[in-house]
Amino acid sequence: MILVGTESDIKLFNEDGTRIDGRTVEELRPIKIETDVLNRADGSAMIEWGGNKIMVAVYGPREAYPKHTQDINRAIVKARYNMAAFSVDERKRPGPDRRSMEISKVISEALTSSIMVEKFPRAQIDVTIEVLQADAGTRIAGLTAASVAIAAAGIPMRDFVVGCTAGKVDGHIVLDLCKEEDNFGQADLPVAVLAKSGKVVLMQMDGDLSEDEFNQATDMIMRATKRINQLQREALTTKYSEAIAGGE
Ligand code: CDP
Repeated sequence: MILVGTESDIKLFNEDGTRIDGRTVEELRPIKIETDVLNRADGSAMIEWGGNKIMVAVYGPREAYPKHTQDINRAIVKARYNMAAFSVDERKRPGPDRRSMEISKVISEALTSSIMVEKFPRAQIDVTIEVLQADAGTRIAGLTAASVAIAAAGIPMRDFVVGCTAGKVDGHIVLDLCKEEDNFGQADLPVAVLAKSGKVVLMQMDGDLSEDEFNQATDMIMRATKRINQLQREALTTKYSEAIAGGE
């Protein structure tokens, strides 16, 4: 029996010890974040992270509707993660599926812990995450961009949410898996934290890691989130200084 695309026939490491896309084990893919890309939304952001292209729009806080969903003590954060039909190699069937509902739920929870939701009783904050092009790590890239879009909307936050993935590929622990590594690697660990405190607000794992490997992976992720948070901050300050320079 011939199995196409199993671990045995895909080489994920080059002879010189670099990865399939030429990166070292702890090297991030290029990341670009831009804010205020949509005029109608209260806040927005576009992130390009490796081959991922993801757009985020934020609306609110506004009165939660239907009324029975209102919480008298705080705002509810409704994140909706969606993959465009053309975002992946094989056409993605439009509409929510189990995967997108799970991702929307974990992203909503992660964002809730970063926003001062208690300031907006009975309100709702809508966060729409549209994946236009997917290349592994979309939940983390979408969440990282969502935190920037929420800040751009002027919604009070305790801290940024910032994330990264690490995983195991050909027996090596590596940072920020690309599509081939995600598909044919042995483990994938997406993690998101609050930038200042380092408190974990999202952690999922696909595959198996030993305790040592897990520690190595989370150490890499924590170092990477510091750099990515810098990019989140720069995306906002660049926009702000451009506005001042333009006399807005
Ligand atoms: O994107 P993320 O790593 O957060 O989630 P995943 O479920 O581990 O998916 C990994 C990658 O598989 C995605 O980023 C897509 O590139 C790809 N994928 C796909 O091609 N078709 C799907 N229906 C779902 C995912």
